[in-house]
Amino acid sequence: MVSEEKIPVHVTIIMDGNGRWARQRGEERLFGHNEGRESVRACVEYAVEKGIRYLSLFAFSEENWNRPRAEVEGLMHLMLKAIMDETPLFHKNGIRFRVLGDMSRLSKELRAQIDDCMTQTETYERLTLVIFLSYSGKWDIVQAANRFMKENPGKELDAGALEKYLATAGIPDPDLLIRTSGEERLSNYMLWQTAYTEFYFTDVLWPDFRKTEFQYALDAFSKRERRFGKI
Ligand code: IPE
Ligand code: IPE
Ligand code: MG
Repeated sequence: MVSEEKIPVHVTIIMDGNGRWARQRGEERLFGHNEGRESVRACVEYAVEKGIRYLSLFAFSEENWNRPRAEVEGLMHLMLKAIMDETPLFHKNGIRFRVLGDMSRLSKELRAQIDDCMTQTETYERLTLVIFLSYSGKWDIVQAANRFMKENPGKELDAGALEKYLATAGIPDPDLLIRTSGEERLSNYMLWQTAYTEFYFTDVLWPDFRKTEFQYALDAFSKRERRFGKI
């Protein structure tokens, strides 16, 4: 713990390293994804405990559709099951659940489950949990620009107008981005929204990232001096 801890409003995590975690144990990749769910639960609980208002998680990228079919199907099934299992936790803790991304690529069943959970939890305000699913930063900017042009024919686009059409409209930009597993890249995640985000990289693989590791990231954030171009 550092003195006068600065708590970020929005923490986002690129949850990476499930496959390597499984391989280290001689298991299938899905074994790692499954264990990663426990880390999600731990981080959600810790975010609530720390008074973080927005926790967002990169769960599946647009590019991840190119993985072997069995892994994609396994991940989608895991998502469906996770939403069903965790909904009571959202009610208990006042967590608003949201999913952002290209929903048109998801199965009807998964979309229905997502819609149901989002509706059930839409009035909660303690923590907003955002899952990025079938999402990419470039997709978001392009869909926002297209919608803007369709709804405002002949008008010129500016940053403020574009932001209203991004999938993340209404959600503050992330203060802190964490990526696990030693990879130090954005992998086409929130490209626009991370313009002034603080980055924290750790070698810890996602299934091993629990409360202690989360606190290390928060400690690092607390020591950062954010200048936003000023002096
Ligand atoms: C992150 O773990 C989860 C997803 C991208 C869905 P990976 O599956 O990328 O795990 P590694 O990077 O292969 O270890
Ligand atoms: C990024 O991880 C996407 C998610 C964590 C959902 P990847 O494992 O897909 O990224 P790359 O391929 O290593 O850049
Ligand atoms: Mg990976």
